[in-house]
Amino acid sequence: MDHIQKSKSLIPGGVESNIRLFDPHPFVSRRGDGPYLYDIDGNKIIDYALGYGPLILGHRHPKVVDAVKKQVDRGSMFGSPTELPPKYVEIVRKAMPSIEMFRFTNSGCEATMTSLRVARAHSGKEKIAKAEGSYHGGYDYMMQSVDIPEDKLKKGVKCQPPVPWGNGLPKCISDLAVIYPFNEWEETEDIIRKNADELAAVIAEPIHAGGGCVAPRDGYLKKLRKLTKELGILLIFDEVLTGFRVAWGGAQERYGVKPDLTCIAKVAGGGYQLGGFGGRKELMEAILPCDEGFVYHGGTYNAHAVSVAAGYATLKELSKSGTYSKLERNGNMLFNGLRDHAKDRGVDTWVENIGSLGEVFFTDKEVRTWRDELGVDGAKWERWFLSAISEGVFFGVPHPDGHAFTSLAHTDDVIEKSLEILDGAFKTVAE
Ligand SMILES: Cc1ncc(COP(=O)(O)O)c(C=O)c1O
Repeated sequence: MDHIQKSKSLIPGGVESNIRLFDPHPFVSRRGDGPYLYDIDGNKIIDYALGYGPLILGHRHPKVVDAVKKQVDRGSMFGSPTELPPKYVEIVRKAMPSIEMFRFTNSGCEATMTSLRVARAHSGKEKIAKAEGSYHGGYDYMMQSVDIPEDKLKKGVKCQPPVPWGNGLPKCISDLAVIYPFNEWEETEDIIRKNADELAAVIAEPIHAGGGCVAPRDGYLKKLRKLTKELGILLIFDEVLTGFRVAWGGAQERYGVKPDLTCIAKVAGGGYQLGGFGGRKELMEAILPCDEGFVYHGGTYNAHAVSVAAGYATLKELSKSGTYSKLERNGNMLFNGLRDHAKDRGVDTWVENIGSLGEVFFTDKEVRTWRDELGVDGAKWERWFLSAISEGVFFGVPHPDGHAFTSLAHTDDVIEKSLEILDGAFKTVAE
């Protein structure tokens, strides 16, 4: 508490990213190990936030630590090509065959941002269609209808025109966004057809999880692929959160849909700053200077040697046989357990999970769209979330429409212990 108070006088909110803020105050971590965080007061906390997604092997996995140490000893920045990036990209291409060529960035935000530029250059058009409620990174073009303040939200509709999220965004930027409702196929098709002549790309989180967690239903992604192909519009999958998380080949493997461009980050860097985007060769080669010009892409820290070493070690570990069935199993164990406990305690919830990614929504209705997420009971969630923390479980992104992850370090024992604590938290809510 003292630490946070002091920190708040120096750093807005005492946090380095708004998402980390929650009332009464976040705990302060000192170290992480496997599935655990240890705070500055000596508490041992089972971690389901996992750095907001990247730590699929758990904290300080020995293979990652070893790779990082070795790289630090050799040097961390060179400003010239190094040996590992092409080896890394070969793994990415094997996992996601839609990626023929790839460029590194430092984050998911930069990956999606540059992919939009590639799409605009390729098509000669400017508008981008994004889903209502989706998050693709904190830059102006995509800070549209990420969330909608209560006073600007049009109720009783499935989707509304772009609403800037937060202040400081130029008004004209909103005109470049077209908003569609994820999982509402008729409205999505209608909006995309109406704007087709001006759309450079449709960007989609294949699982709506930047905010919340909603799986695609009724062949939604396949329909999106068919429609964009028919209309000659590029389809970009933002797999920052789902890449190497919901399957080795990401959501595109899980749902059998091949996008034109893909963005990855989070798990791809194994806990270090690494992102990137890739796709068909002819799209990616537009980055290179030629007579017709080029699509600018740069970054001092792109393919930072330590990050690539950590990412490479992580992907190598993940590529071992049985990895994703283990993750699927432990994700199902956690979220099925939560479904049962909530039901037994008489607490209305909708529990969504796609393998090791999931969320507990406090609502008596099914959550199949972003608009459904708006109906969750924030007060109940807060009671549950804080009760869990006080007993030693940090259940994911600290917001009622967040999401949580399991890692390979979450053994059955750890999950059983977590379920005991989380059941106690349901009991508190029921009371
Ligand atoms: C789906 C999605 N896209 C993009 C981003 C931005 O990634 P980063 O925070 O690495 O910039 C996030 C971050 O949470 C995300 O969940």
